[in-house]
Amino acid sequence: MRENPLVLHVLGARPNFVKAAPVVRALEGLGVRQGIIHTGQHYDALMSDVFFADLGLPEPLANLGVGSGTHARQTAALLVGLEEVVVQHSPDLVVVYGDVNSTLAAILVCAKLGVPTAHVEAGLRSFDRTMPEEVNRIVTDSLADLLFATSPDALSYLAAEGVDPRKVHLVGNSMIDSLFAALPQLDPAPVVERLGLPERYAVGTLHRPANVDTPEAARELVSAVLEVTELIPVVVPIHPRGRTRLAEAGLVNGERLRIVDPLGYVDFLSLVRGAALVVTDSGGVQEETTVLGVPCLTVRPNTERPITVSHGTNRLVTPAMLAAAASKMLADGAAIPAEELPALWDGKAGVRIARVIAAWLRGDSLAPAAFNRVQS
Ligand code: UD1
Ligand code: UDP
Repeated sequence: MRENPLVLHVLGARPNFVKAAPVVRALEGLGVRQGIIHTGQHYDALMSDVFFADLGLPEPLANLGVGSGTHARQTAALLVGLEEVVVQHSPDLVVVYGDVNSTLAAILVCAKLGVPTAHVEAGLRSFDRTMPEEVNRIVTDSLADLLFATSPDALSYLAAEGVDPRKVHLVGNSMIDSLFAALPQLDPAPVVERLGLPERYAVGTLHRPANVDTPEAARELVSAVLEVTELIPVVVPIHPRGRTRLAEAGLVNGERLRIVDPLGYVDFLSLVRGAALVVTDSGGVQEETTVLGVPCLTVRPNTERPITVSHGTNRLVTPAMLAAAASKMLADGAAIPAEELPALWDGKAGVRIARVIAAWLRGDSLAPAAFNRVQS
């Protein structure tokens, strides 16, 4: 390994920023030379800049400005931009996060250039290949050199796909590290007042292609959300993907429904912390509600995060089931004793990841099982 090796983090979309911040901070603490490449997959200030500010992420070395497009166009732009920037910086390791197109493109570029890679949030599987994210996860995990898993089920899925277990490290959940770091700032009152919400409210976030990309799916979803508004006022910080189609399907401001712009990280989690219920199709929000103990209904037929159902507040529902499930959850609440939360979702995943990366950069052997299964 070179003297003073360089680690690059490739980030592109909202959840990437949240997962990366603790890793960047922990590597900084170990004195590792590093930089962020922002692909520009997400580019609105409320989908990107606000996260750099809220999470204390350093300014990226470059923003590739790839923007939006079909999968082919966006991925092609990502491949071209990332190849140039990886060649230019010649990193010793590239760290990628989650399951977005920026992650897929970075892993492909690095594999072809022979640059080693690490995948944070490895081994999640919905077993639903109609999801673009599932395709991205499978390809990313098959090519990564270091794989950092959030939950034990990932280990068996990766083993079943033939991934060498010596590459896999069960480290916990860095997205939850960000949540713990922000916790002292998470006060619902200011954001509730600013948005003019009542004391008891539900939060909705909806952006999965299967829910928002066709008029039929959007209509079904919107009519289900409107039923929930009869039980409790709902505020939806709307993801730009579904804004137009959901509005056309009737998701518009009303007395018991507030449609607002996407919120910054601290504002959003403050709102979630004070909510009686969350209705979502987000991956990360299923995890965050689990840790905050907020009842969560996920409008999807499957989840790559089943631990949020077995050890958390999450329940999967169809649109047709949503209102009845909401009514029950509002009546029952969803307190989860802290000791039952998923193991290693303790705010220290970033530190564990940074330790493994630093050891790998030094060329230390990562084979011993005790090291590969970092427990503290
Ligand atoms: C992407 C990820 C998804 C993740 C989500 C997080 C892929 C395949 N999907 O989905 O896994 O859950 O990010 O939020 O990578 N747009 C804007 N402004 C922006 C960004 C997007 O208006 O700053 C609009 C554009 O119309 C764009 C659409 O949103 O076409 C979709 O954006 P894109 O990045 O392609 O996918 P997401 O749906 O955001
Ligand atoms: N989030 C946010 N503002 C919002 C909606 C979500 O800060 O208006 C945060 C949320 O707390 C989580 C992350 O964005 O940390 C999840 O991103 P998203 O739902 O877009 O992606 P997914 O997790 O589904 O890939």
